[in-house]
Amino acid sequence: MEHELDAARSTADVERLAAECLAPDVWDYVAGGSGDEVTVAANRAAFDRVRVVPRALVDVSACDTGCELFGARAALPLVVAPMAYQRLIHADGERGAAEAAAAAGVPYTISTLSSEPLEAVARAGGVTWFQLYWLRDRDLVRNLLRRAEDAGCRAVVLTVDVPVMGRRLRDLRNGFALPSSVQPVNLGDEVRERVPGDSALARHTRAAFDPSLSWRDLEWIREHTSLPLLVKGILDPRDAVRAVEEGVDGLVVSNHGGRQLDGAVPAVTALPDIVAAVANRCPVLVDSGVRSGVDVVRALALGATAVLLGRPVLWGLGAGGRGGVAKVLDLLRDELDTALRLAGCPDVAAAHDLAVR
Ligand code: FNR
Ligand code: LAC
Repeated sequence: MEHELDAARSTADVERLAAECLAPDVWDYVAGGSGDEVTVAANRAAFDRVRVVPRALVDVSACDTGCELFGARAALPLVVAPMAYQRLIHADGERGAAEAAAAAGVPYTISTLSSEPLEAVARAGGVTWFQLYWLRDRDLVRNLLRRAEDAGCRAVVLTVDVPVMGRRLRDLRNGFALPSSVQPVNLGDEVRERVPGDSALARHTRAAFDPSLSWRDLEWIREHTSLPLLVKGILDPRDAVRAVEEGVDGLVVSNHGGRQLDGAVPAVTALPDIVAAVANRCPVLVDSGVRSGVDVVRALALGATAVLLGRPVLWGLGAGGRGGVAKVLDLLRDELDTALRLAGCPDVAAAHDLAVR
């Protein structure tokens, strides 16, 4: 597998390798979306429809792919998306992925549902962010926010698109549950009971997540952390404006990779109106369907500050653990460098100025 990983020249190559390495039900958990997976497909189609207009006769003998994100330098306008249970994918788990991200100079977002303690992941990582799910147990939320800050995380990402879990038909049909060795250790919960035709993850979400999360809770979160607060899962410009008015520090335009509301608008389609509505009042990040450096340039041209990279990171982890994640981030860096130069952009700021047709 190491040789094949070396030979990979796109994230799609790494995806094929991961599909061979992972157990079928784990593959389904990673690859799957909700319902008919219409939104999963639409995310890709929407990126492919974004046609960038390159600039000519710009000196691109040097190209700076770096940018500043919430007070820290990032080697790329890219952050590893929060993704649960990474020890399902490979024994290197969250720590391996966070180490690879640190080596690549890319921030890594620790999920509330990480399968290794958030402190251990933060220690392994470079710049880390903490993703928060709104749990019924408010003491636990308070505690997680405190732990994340103490562990040195640099931002909190509140995910707002999981009041309940989307109907992930693959997981339901597989009766998906976690092995006892991979559990949501930050919460101390157990998600291992197998029930045919049902998803243990969906049952856990129902039991642990509080679907009453609303605007009035942002203030409480603010009171319990001094870190910059991003809200992930915004698709309507009205919500973007409200979030800015409530003083959030950043937005992630996202449909959760097509795993929540099937039929939701692709994030990249929603992005331009949100960028216009936010009018530079805070950074606007985007995820759901980013697969290449060209996709990063597309997102930048549409006004995104940076992207979150989801499944491709897990493909890397599945195909080669920490080294596989390094490979994926390496591919993204090479692709972005090439795409920026070909678009006539000596740096990330120039890409924000590109036209799209
Ligand atoms: C996720 N995502 C996610 N988001 C979040 O806020 N907390 C989480 O714990 C998880 N867990 C998770 C697990 C797996 C297996 C996947 C694939 C995704 C969503 C993730 O952060 C991101 O929004 C999407 O993955 C982006 O879409 P793409 O790039 O995977 O298509
Ligand atoms: C996911 C989050 C909900 O699996 O854990 O998408």
